[in-house]
Amino acid sequence: MSLTDIEAANLGAHARFIETLEDALVAFTALDGEAALRSWAELARRIGAHQVVEEELLGVVATHEGTAPPRGGATALVIAEHRQLDKLHALATQRIELVHAAPIESRRLAMVRGLDDLLRFRHLLEHHGLREERIVYPHVAVALPHELRAGFAERLART
Ligand SMILES: [Fe+2]
Ligand SMILES: [Fe+2]
Repeated sequence: MSLTDIEAANLGAHARFIETLEDALVAFTALDGEAALRSWAELARRIGAHQVVEEELLGVVATHEGTAPPRGGATALVIAEHRQLDKLHALATQRIELVHAAPIESRRLAMVRGLDDLLRFRHLLEHHGLREERIVYPHVAVALPHELRAGFAERLART
């Protein structure tokens, strides 16, 4: 079955997040702190813009649907994961800065020891993305008529 407009827009944005995150990981593991921080900040900007649209969308869905969201798709859960992503992103930013500030002779070891902080963010981002792709957006696609979805799909496609 082909994806609806809004499912495709969400999926495309998630793929772009992973690309930007991988840019940051490549730079971080190459000990290029400035490039890593640039990509990491770009990731926050993209995800922040995406979350704003998504949280507004879920608010509209809540007023339109006749049935409760499916198991694992509760709006409160999605929003709690957004805030947890924000928190893990900020912790990883600090980690990148710390590694960047470490003396050159111990920087690689600091990077290896700090890599987990970036991967923790990656794991939650992937987990959250799958929740949305498999549970939340299929429900949104059914709960909202096309004319209400279209504007949100366009906005998500720009994140
Ligand atoms: Fe999303
Ligand atoms: Fe999300």
